[in-house]
Amino acid sequence: MNITVIGAGYVGLITAAGLAETGHQVVCVDDDLRKVQVLNSGGMPFYEPGLEDLVKRNRQAKRLEFISRIEDAVVKCQAIFICVGTPPLENGEADLSSVELVARRISECARGYHLVIEKSTVPVQTGRRLQKHFSIYGNDSQYHCDVASNPEFLREGSGVEDFFHPDRIVVGVDSDKAAALLGEIYKPVLEQTFACPVHENCGNRARVPFVITDINSAELIKHASNSFLAMKISFINMIADLCEAVGADVGKVAEAVGMDKRIGGSFLRPGVGFGGSCFPKDLQAFVRVGQSAGCDFTLLHEVEQINQRRVDLFVKKIKNELWVVRGKRVGVWGLAFKPRTDDVRCSPALAIIRRMLAEGALVRAYDPQAMEKAKAEIPDIEYCADAYAAAQGAEAILALTEWEEFLHLDLLKVRHLMSRPLILDGRNMFSSATLAGLGFEYVDIGSGAPAREAFFDARNV
Ligand code: UDX
Repeated sequence: MNITVIGAGYVGLITAAGLAETGHQVVCVDDDLRKVQVLNSGGMPFYEPGLEDLVKRNRQAKRLEFISRIEDAVVKCQAIFICVGTPPLENGEADLSSVELVARRISECARGYHLVIEKSTVPVQTGRRLQKHFSIYGNDSQYHCDVASNPEFLREGSGVEDFFHPDRIVVGVDSDKAAALLGEIYKPVLEQTFACPVHENCGNRARVPFVITDINSAELIKHASNSFLAMKISFINMIADLCEAVGADVGKVAEAVGMDKRIGGSFLRPGVGFGGSCFPKDLQAFVRVGQSAGCDFTLLHEVEQINQRRVDLFVKKIKNELWVVRGKRVGVWGLAFKPRTDDVRCSPALAIIRRMLAEGALVRAYDPQAMEKAKAEIPDIEYCADAYAAAQGAEAILALTEWEEFLHLDLLKVRHLMSRPLILDGRNMFSSATLAGLGFEYVDIGSGAPAREAFFDARNV
């Protein structure tokens, strides 16, 4: 099928390349000329495992092309995916101006039947607004635009895998025609009948659930899913603080709690908080949706508050260990908001570095992928060639993103490079026993070993 994808960000580029890989003819449009030039010359605007190959292969197969003018794509296609950014406004609501602009451009050049599919994360009732837009600015003898919602659940760092192996595909439609068209678009993924570009031996795969509902419900499913995941993280971070206070081990607590099939072990890793381009903004937007609908969303407001306090609590730990931070050399391992991506948007690591700089620390940082993007945000720290260089002469290492490579470091070498063998682990990626065995001081999140003694001492137990 001829498909247009508008927006070549994470969602748009992965969707465009994924749909092309499953056999569709895809035109991906982005009004950022430089990005289109980079893509058309075989470059990538961001790092995402497996995506560069996917784009390259489908460009070579002439199933995927990048252009900058919407009108040149819309006339040729039936399905149009809107994958533009919906960043937060000052008040936390989602900024829908790019979505509206795209709708206007579509209504200026549409001919015949088009299915306009919102894939950007949008507040509930945005689809209704789009329908109203098309009824005002078009829908005459010239053309008819149907609207549908098709939220994405891609995670950065595993976006390509998530496209081909989703837990479910959700569509919100107002017509059988729209449902049928989306069923046809996703047929190879739903039936898992494609040569898997991610896994070598991708064994026999079960069909993917196809959730067909109304537009409002589909839009809500996205916000509710992200908010629930964020709530799980804030919950375990709340428990981690209690573990520290009473002397318990959050790792064990999370493990056992997660064994309950009704709860599940994923997204129960405590740390310095969730970041990225999705959770913080989707939570904000969803809280505003709830409030403007007159619903009590204090629960999610608390999820945000708990998350915002993670950085303060971690900085308090650092000051607890270093006493006077001013003039002290601090090494940082990890800048991205999570591993396997170069994305530093709302990264807790950057927030902690800014606090360290405010305290007068001398910061040397290393990240396998995100240093270029971090330099644009925080130019005045030292960026190192590797983790060892960041440890050189440091009074403390702050481990802030759980990149796999940090687990394979020669820690004895690290210890000798540091002026004080102290690691503060903001992602609980190391084992306290291993580090203690190597002569490190080790502080993590939520295993209240030190507190345990203090707790019992205080009660002379
Ligand atoms: C998220 C959703 O997972 C995805 O479905 C949606 O489409 C977009 O938003 P992403 O932002 O890429 O994806 O990251 P995710 O892997 O969900 O992690 C989000 C944040 O939570 C990261 O900062 C991560 O470090 C943190 N996190 C995650 C925890 O602190 N603890 C956990 O147990 C899991």
